[in-house]
Parts: sequence; structure tokens; C-alpha cells
Amino acid sequence: MATVLTSAQSSDVQIKQTKILIDNKWVDSVSGKTFETINPATGEVLASVAEADAADVDLAVKAARKAFNAKSAWRKMSGSERGKLLNKLADLIEKHAEELGTLESLDNGKPRHVAMAADIPLVIACYRYYAGWADKIQGKTIPINGDYFCYTRHEPVGVVAQIIPWNFPLLMQAWKLAPALACGNTVVMKPAEQTPLSALRVGELIVEAGFPEGVVNLLPGYGPTAGGALSRHMDIDKVAFTGSTEVGKIIMKAAADSNLKRVTLELGGKSPNIVLADANMDEAVEGSHFALFFNQGQCCCAGSRVFVEEKIYDEFVQRSAERAKRRTVGNPLDTKTEQGPQVDNEQFTKVLSFIDSGKREGAKLVAGGDRVGDKGYFVAPTVFSDVKDEMKIAQEEIFGPVMSIMKFKDTEELIDRANKSIYGLAAAVWTRDIGKAHQIANNVRAGTVWVNCYDVFDAAAPFGGFKQSGIGRELGEYGLQQYSEIKTVTVKL
Ligand code: NAI
Ligand code: MG
Repeated sequence: MATVLTSAQSSDVQIKQTKILIDNKWVDSVSGKTFETINPATGEVLASVAEADAADVDLAVKAARKAFNAKSAWRKMSGSERGKLLNKLADLIEKHAEELGTLESLDNGKPRHVAMAADIPLVIACYRYYAGWADKIQGKTIPINGDYFCYTRHEPVGVVAQIIPWNFPLLMQAWKLAPALACGNTVVMKPAEQTPLSALRVGELIVEAGFPEGVVNLLPGYGPTAGGALSRHMDIDKVAFTGSTEVGKIIMKAAADSNLKRVTLELGGKSPNIVLADANMDEAVEGSHFALFFNQGQCCCAGSRVFVEEKIYDEFVQRSAERAKRRTVGNPLDTKTEQGPQVDNEQFTKVLSFIDSGKREGAKLVAGGDRVGDKGYFVAPTVFSDVKDEMKIAQEEIFGPVMSIMKFKDTEELIDRANKSIYGLAAAVWTRDIGKAHQIANNVRAGTVWVNCYDVFDAAAPFGGFKQSGIGRELGEYGLQQYSEIKTVTVKL
């Protein structure tokens, strides 16, 4: 059994903002409807939040379009001024880091100390990184045939819809907003219905930083309603989405059926985490544990197919099971907690049903296997050994604290097995053999490969998926391409 921490839930954070942000004004929804966001550690309601739908989307798009007009304050602003605003926002987030970290923990369930150590620093770094790019977005001069002067301009795409998930609410907001704003776009963003609170608080900081009216609009609401209205809208130039592959397809279809708005998608994964016999065992066990269990297992890039070489298989399984049993589960506000609850009842139920399917299909349960406690959505850190490639737990994204460990003999066969997935988001290899490390890195079909490490993120390093894990890349210089249109200008001399 995992350790359960029982100290009382306590936080003195105030929920300051629960409305919709349009044109730098906080408003109720047109319908007057609200929805409740809950604390997954207790099941209690945290706040009622304005529920945006199509009518609110229309108003927000009008504001964003006006802010994108050639004569607007935003369009006339220089790149370095945009950079200053992004840096100002980063400073404000830093100033309110404690408050934002607590809100994030209450709304999402992730341990507050983890939000403070991981999420918040990455959020601040992302805004600062793209602040630095804002005045370095430039085209080329191109020596074409004939007597012409030819050059390219990198222009903003226009009004951008951004639909984000609940697993890293602040960080996903930063990954989307920072490059879009650095490039000069205007944004209509829908935070996830499970976790709207931190995004709205950042909205207040966006206004305080001095972004002009209509540049950033925030619409809390549900996927099929508000999200659907964004994907179908005729006056949105691009939609950027992070979430399930299933919804990614719906969004791409809606974009195609409406106005061919540009689409970038960051979707699900079933990432192979490969442990060779010559790996440093301590690091491989701890690194693989982190790769799977970090963020309650709710990571698109979770190392959820653990392939372990035959020679060390039994030892690896035993040590991974022991490590999972030692993982502390409980109050997200307690600094000793490693794992909080799953984000909501739907995810909790889904994860438990995957555990049942693992048991039914004959995988060997070596740790966990059930919920923890009887309040909140806590799942025991679970490890299955003897997992076969065709089992459901080896094929589908679980998005929870459930590790599946498979055995392999030779690396040739391994590459085929690792690539036998509809997904291609990430992969990792643990080995001391540099040749094998590069061979695997070159041959796995995945957008990111980690060698002897996992979940190393940096605003400068691109992230995104091969195959059904997505389209396009976020972060880094590559991330700018997704928020720019290239214009070729040719002048007769
Ligand atoms: P989801 O894909 O339904 O939700 C993600 C976002 O899309 C939310 O903002 C949601 O409101 C919105 N959305 C939902 N339906 C929509 C629609 N028809 N049109 C436009 N927007 C829509 O993910 P959900 O239901 O929260 O989780 C289901 C599974 O998706 C998870 O179990 C996990 O496997 C995967 N997932 C992957 C994430 C990632 O980081 N790649 C993040 C969240 C979920
Ligand atoms: Mg959904």
C-alpha cells in the first residue's frame, strides 16, 4: 500500500477571478450560465465560473479581430514593446507565484510544492524566452532570377483560438500564449473546464501588465460548446489545441469544414521507455518511476510502455514495485506528498477501469491496483509486470499512475515493438552504451527522445508529436513558425 498522508487540507488563497475576459473587461456569460470547478482532493466545489458558449465566442472574436486591425495599438506596437509586455507578465507571475501555485494545486490536485518547483518556473521561463524573440522575428532577402528584389516577411497569422487541457493549466497557457503574442497575433483562449482558475488569474495579470484591449480573451467553458464554436468559427485564422487525439480529430474536421483555419495539435501518447541491461540501475528505476508517475501519471509524454531487457527484467520489476509502494499519496498541500488525486471523477473512473482491464487480461499486478481512501480521486501507484504488447494497458493512453512493464530480448525486435503504436510523442532509453543510445534515438518515431533522463523540458527545445500524437511543434524557435504566415514580396528593379 502506498503511504497515505492525512494532514488537514488548508490554504488561505482567495479565488479572485471567475468571469470571462473579453476586451480587457471581466464579464458574465451572455446566457448567464455558470459551472462549478471542484477540488479533486476533496470533491468539494471551489468556485462557480462563468460558462462561455457560442455567443461569447462571437464577442471575443470580434474583440480579437478589432485588436488585430492594421491600425490597432497592438499592430502598431514594435516587437521590442511586445517583448517588454511579455517580460512584465513574467514578472507579475513571479510576484504572485505562491498564489498561482496554490490555485493550481487546489484546482488540479497536483502537489503545491511540485507546482512551485516545476510548473511555475517553466511558465515564467516560457514567457521570458518568447519575450526575447519578439523583436527577432524576421524574414530573408532571396536572390531570385532576373532583376528583382525579393524578400519574405514573417507576419502574425491573425486571430488565434487556443484550447488547452487541465494537466498543466498554467504551463499549457504559457506554451500557447507566449509564442502567439511574441509573433503579434491576438488570442481567444479556452481553458479546460476542470481547471479554469489559474488561467483567469493570469488574465488579470495580463490586463495589469498593459496588453491592449482584445489582444488576449479568456473564455472558460466546455469543449463541445465553447470549444466547438471556436473550431467552427469563420473569422478565426488558426486553432491550436492540446488534449486527446479523439478531440484533435474533431477540431481538425471542424477547421476543414469551416474556413480552413490553420491547425496545430499536441495530442496523446503511449511513449516507450526503454531500459537496456547495461543501464545504471538506480537511475533507470528512479527515472522510469518519475517518467510514469509524475503529475499523477497525467502527462501526454508519460513513459507508459516500459520495455526492459530480459537480463535485468526481474530485478527492475521488483525495484519498480517497491518504489511505487513507497510513493506518498495524499493532501496536495502537504510538502511530503508526491502524488495528489486524479483531476476529476471521469479520469479517476477511467484509470480504475484500465487497472481492471490489466487484471482481466492477465498482466501481473505487483503494486497498487485500487483507489486510496474513500474521499477525493486518489489512485494507488500501480505497477503491472508481464504485460504483453496487445493488452489494452499497453496500447491505450491511461493518463494515470499505472505502469506497464514489458520484456525484450534483442534491440532490433525492440525498435519494431516500440514503434508499433498509433502515437509518436516521446521515447527514452537508459543505457551506458552511446552507440545503442543513438541507434535507438534515430530509429524510434517520436518527437522527443530522452537519453538517461526523462521529462527534461526547456522553453528553447521544441516539443510535439509524430503520427497521431499531433501536428506541429511548440516551444523553441520552431514554435514561432506555427504562429507566423510567410509573405513573399517581389519588387521589379
Ligand atoms: P479533451 O481532449 O476532451 O479536452 C481537452 C480540451 O479540449 C479541453 O479544454 C476541452 O474542453 C476541449 N474539448 C473537448 N471536446 C471538445 C470539442 N468537441 N471541441 C473543442 N474542444 C473540445 O480531454 P479530456 O476529456 O479532458 O481527457 C480525455 C483524455 O484525453 C485523457 O484521459 C487523456 O488520455 C487525454 N488528454 C491528453 C492531454 C495531453 O496533454 N495531450 C491532456 C488532457 C487529456
Ligand atoms: Mg473530453
